[in-house]
Amino acid sequence: MKAIAVCGSPRVNGNTQMILETACDVLKEQGVETELILLYNKLIKPCIACGKCKELRDRTCSMKDDDFHPVLEKIIEADALIVGSPVYFGSATSQTTSLLHRAGYVARANDNFLRGKIGGPVVVARRAGQNFTYAQLLFFFTINEMVIPGSTYWNIAFGRNKGEVMDDEEGIETVKTFAKNIADLLSKLKQ
Ligand SMILES: Cc1cc2nc3c(=O)[nH]c(=O)nc-3n(C[C@H](O)[C@H](O)[C@H](O)COP(=O)(O)O)c2cc1C
Repeated sequence: MKAIAVCGSPRVNGNTQMILETACDVLKEQGVETELILLYNKLIKPCIACGKCKELRDRTCSMKDDDFHPVLEKIIEADALIVGSPVYFGSATSQTTSLLHRAGYVARANDNFLRGKIGGPVVVARRAGQNFTYAQLLFFFTINEMVIPGSTYWNIAFGRNKGEVMDDEEGIETVKTFAKNIADLLSKLKQ
């Protein structure tokens, strides 16, 4: 069983990365092979709605000149997927949505290979917009037949400058519980 966490922040070592690292630590403690994928140093162009994925039907996107496919391969291999994004003007970042739009469209053109994967969103903001962004990302998970474990709160946290998120004890605990619940579900599926 393998889990990946994708960080859609353009900042390295930022709050979203830190909270995802915390989630990955919990998954690893539970014996789940885990990888954190950072998008800050990757170019993932937005979907151009060419529809070629529906013609190709080979689990690829027509745009081959960026960093999308190595990330898509990791998503395809993973049993669990966590998507983390900072809130930008009440929404997920364009790095996050570019990846999800293309991955989702390619999946749906290929017998929905996201179906049954376990996971969910994690969202960080300075002050507001977490719930909207959390809901925005939930739409991706539910329309793609994915399975979302709960936690003791929604997976949101507060922080502005790098590292501040680690002071949000409730946010950190919520995400740790979410990661533990992913691991528990993976282990039940393995039985
Ligand atoms: C362009 C931009 C837009 C932002 N919009 C919001 C917002 O709508 N609400 C909010 O509370 N914080 C907003 N923030 C603050 C970030 O969400 C916050 O600094 C977050 O911790 C960044 O996460 P990161 O360190 O993972 O990049 C914005 C930051 C930027 C750069």
